[in-house]
Amino acid sequence: MAIGVFDSGVGGLTIHRALVDRFPRADFTFLGDQANVPYGGRPGEEIVALTRAGCETLFESGCNLVVLACNTAAAIALRRLQQTWLPGYRQALGRPVNVLGIIVPTIEAATGLPWEHEAERRGDKVEQLDVLGVFSTPATTASRVYEIEIDKRRQDIAVFSEPCPNLARMVEAGAPRAELEAVVEAHVRALAKRIGRPPDRAVLGCTHYEIIADVFRSFLPPGTPLIHQPGATADAMERYFARHPEYPIGDRGARRFLTTGQPGAVNSLAEAFWGGPLHFEPVKPTAAADQAIRI
Ligand code: DGL
Repeated sequence: MAIGVFDSGVGGLTIHRALVDRFPRADFTFLGDQANVPYGGRPGEEIVALTRAGCETLFESGCNLVVLACNTAAAIALRRLQQTWLPGYRQALGRPVNVLGIIVPTIEAATGLPWEHEAERRGDKVEQLDVLGVFSTPATTASRVYEIEIDKRRQDIAVFSEPCPNLARMVEAGAPRAELEAVVEAHVRALAKRIGRPPDRAVLGCTHYEIIADVFRSFLPPGTPLIHQPGATADAMERYFARHPEYPIGDRGARRFLTTGQPGAVNSLAEAFWGGPLHFEPVKPTAAADQAIRI
């Protein structure tokens, strides 16, 4: 059995890298839905159907767990799929399978509290606010998932989200650094203007942005802590595997990279991040994806 890692495109490699480093003997299959990237401007129903298709592809290729290494898919589709599709699919498959996301680990890292911990006392926000900036796709921003879930747990953290409509597409296409800098600078400025000052901490709430974390760092005040989704996810997975021995993670160190797009289309930005050449195998999108793009 292998661990599946899913994203619309190359952004998920940032999570994949941390998981491979943390569990070097485990078997992994990565899938990028590059035929349909980016997800961040799509309607919710399309994101749900495309995410489901990606999970099916990974389960059919032998995975027992899928990590949605995509904030957009996790914010919009994860709960829906866990509640409506997964129980029946699991039964039909006749083996334990599960889908996990990256938002829960990120919120645990941002709040310093386990997910189960919801604040008992709901009061006014305290005066000394810790201002957390979240950069994300328009779909993730619109879901308000970070605002809602952090507010349930910590009254002293104020979340301000900044949607970055073109950034994932640009990273996916390997845009030149100067172009990326201009866009990131504009978003950092826009967020600081809305808050009235720069954020105290920041979440790069789209896995594509982690590839250009240094660009974000260069426009945030020096030393602004970034909450690191890949590390937070690897920590959470370690705890998950300890609790769930029913999901064997393999021990051959196998690595497969699948894409619904054109193999070979991975850009140099992603390969530089990965630290070596990436060889993707083509896979056909499943029927669920065909249905999604007809909506
Ligand atoms: N990398 C993804 C995320 O974390 C998706 C970006 C996109 O496809 O728009 O949100």
